[in-house]
Amino acid sequence: MVTRAAADQLRHRRLLDARAEFFPFRGTDLFVRIGGQPTVDALVDHLYDAFEDDPVLRPLFPRDLTDGRAAQKIFFAEWLGGEYTPGDGRRYSDHTYAPLRHRHDDVTITRSDAGRWLAHFRRALEQVVPTESDRTTIFDQAKAMAHALVNAEEPSTRRGGTSPVAACGVAARTLKNATDLAHKGDTAGVAASLAQAPDLRRASYGARLLQVAAMAGRVKTVEFLLRSGVGPDRPHYLPIGLVGHAFERVLLVTPLCAARLRHRTAVEAVLLHAGAAEDVFTSAFLGDVDLLRKQIAAAPELAETPDPAADVIDITPVDHAVAGGQVETLRLLLDNVRRPLPGAVRALRGAAEKESLPMVKLLLDGGADATLIGAGRWVLHPQIAPLLAARGASVRSSGSWIGLCCTGNQGRKDDPEYVRALLRHGARADDRRTGDPFGRTTGVAALAATGLHYAAKAGFVQTIEVLLEHGADPRAKDSQGRTPLDWLEEAAPTVDRESVRRLLTTATRQR
Ligand code: HEM
Repeated sequence: MVTRAAADQLRHRRLLDARAEFFPFRGTDLFVRIGGQPTVDALVDHLYDAFEDDPVLRPLFPRDLTDGRAAQKIFFAEWLGGEYTPGDGRRYSDHTYAPLRHRHDDVTITRSDAGRWLAHFRRALEQVVPTESDRTTIFDQAKAMAHALVNAEEPSTRRGGTSPVAACGVAARTLKNATDLAHKGDTAGVAASLAQAPDLRRASYGARLLQVAAMAGRVKTVEFLLRSGVGPDRPHYLPIGLVGHAFERVLLVTPLCAARLRHRTAVEAVLLHAGAAEDVFTSAFLGDVDLLRKQIAAAPELAETPDPAADVIDITPVDHAVAGGQVETLRLLLDNVRRPLPGAVRALRGAAEKESLPMVKLLLDGGADATLIGAGRWVLHPQIAPLLAARGASVRSSGSWIGLCCTGNQGRKDDPEYVRALLRHGARADDRRTGDPFGRTTGVAALAATGLHYAAKAGFVQTIEVLLEHGADPRAKDSQGRTPLDWLEEAAPTVDRESVRRLLTTATRQR
């Protein structure tokens, strides 16, 4: 439970202005009392069945609701106080890539939408939670969240499900253009963008513009954004290139932290003048041991308080220290948190990704659960890999490792050593890419293809050799009955099709 003193000190980091707690039922027996996961599953099924039939809300959701349903079952289990179970690995906040605020940024939600959502939620609760007092307690918290997610005025006619400004899709162009202007310090351009698209002032979009301008040292643009009403503390997530994949979109820093990271002292002065606040997350991330020590001495629970900016995702100062690569602030925090750490999966993944042996050791000694780490480049590290393996780390066979080394996406190259190391640590050559931690099974997962399928399409000759050496079946069929040779037909023109075909046909003959 976050104390009032800690909550007050971190109020400036809130993007989601909910009256309610983000983890309202943690530490209570509510989840067990209402019947555990089967009740949560039924709750979400009722809720989603209602969305399916709602002509107003349905257009806001994607065409296929299967994945949303699966993810919400894991989310509501945690939100309703489901306990972290070591080894299970199905805690929403350990795996998701966006706080609620950001998850809903691109959905236009009016007050009446929130009302409709809540009406469905109330009916779903009535179907599955027998005790009225439990229903009321849950509903009150959901109500506060739903109203905090409202981000649009009531339109006289709905303009389709999405906002004219968005972080993804076609509407992302407006935000991208404004971001580029803020980066260049083109204050007049930013002003024109805000005038044309007032949605750019939404909490998370404004925060993005301010962060970009602060990091680029654009004093005038920072001053303009502050004058336009973007709060001086509005946190925004840092790019993956700075924090690593483990912290993708969940490591939010204030403009002050971003400016200091880039040594933009003039921007820092402007922000401080505008009332920007210091906090434990900034000290942890930037490695300011002295300030952090003082902050923790004044309010010890701050060492493990979740970041309000990340709302329902459990990101604590420990994650910030790891993302910043700060061994000393990490040590100080771990000396001041309860043991064992609840999961600390992200922090461990992040430390391994940064190849920091001291941070990995500190986290393991602090009780981080290595069994949940999953696939990653840690398998290649000569000291970190055996250390984690000795604590039960292994690559699960959901086939998620295939996405990391067998596809040509994101500029990946043929990397046989990585594949060998993954196979040494629990991956199996015949695994299929079938799902993610939330049990989502559409899209790529529905194809249920093997590493050989992907490697054939990517033209990764050495990876194919390694997989075949380890017993992969060259005749394996995906869910549509297609073999790796069929996938090769879809390869890019640059792929050496002849070599791939030779390898696969020879291996097929030898079977
Ligand atoms: C106020 C009305 C609301 C609307 C219109 C709405 C709409 C949406 C939409 C369109 C998505 C994306 C679904 C997808 O990609 O499949 C979503 C995701 C989500 N919503 Fe809401 N939502 C509302 C309120 C809430 C509330 C009150 C909560 C929690 C108490 C919540 C929790 C979530 C979560 C956790 C996800 C992400 C699931 C995932 O990771 O895929 N939503 N919502």
